[in-house]
Amino acid sequence: MHILITNANAMKQIQYTSEVKVYEGFEEMDLKDVQLIKLAIDQLPLAYAPYSNFHVGAALRLSDGQIFTGVNQENASYPLCMCGERNALYSAGNTNPKVPVESLAIVARNMNKKTETPVTPCGACRQVICEYEHRHSSDIKIFLKGFDGSQVYEFTSGKDLLPFLFNPSFL
Ligand code: THU
Repeated sequence: MHILITNANAMKQIQYTSEVKVYEGFEEMDLKDVQLIKLAIDQLPLAYAPYSNFHVGAALRLSDGQIFTGVNQENASYPLCMCGERNALYSAGNTNPKVPVESLAIVARNMNKKTETPVTPCGACRQVICEYEHRHSSDIKIFLKGFDGSQVYEFTSGKDLLPFLFNPSFL
């Protein structure tokens, strides 16, 4: 992603560059990253998504090797739904407030059609991922995969997914 913003009289430019690595399959990837993605896949049947039929499984690894998982949790009152990746992050944050998150794998499966391409996280989750990076002064590697496809996207930081994030320096 490359974003170039130019103001009306072209005096000031802000340029954002965002990088994503695309793997065509697990072959070229590190074993522990593949294991994390497979764990995220294993979570999919645990998703509670009777309204959207869209299942999201997440697995994360902390810097000390601990693993946490999460799936989306829906509610008949739709705005109360919680995303899978946020559940994984909050689960880790609840019990390990001081340990940085190293890597996060997110796999999505639409039960109504094939999910061939990696599914990118919603804006709220991107903001939360960035908060955890800020909290621990440590970037989080993010792996994304669609259940039916073999492609994997790798981002080295949530900031690559969220240009112009709201950040604590504003407060
Ligand atoms: N969902 C996630 O779990 N993560 C995202 O990043 C995007 C959306 C869930 C929320 C809801 O249960 C379903 O997917 C459809 O939006």
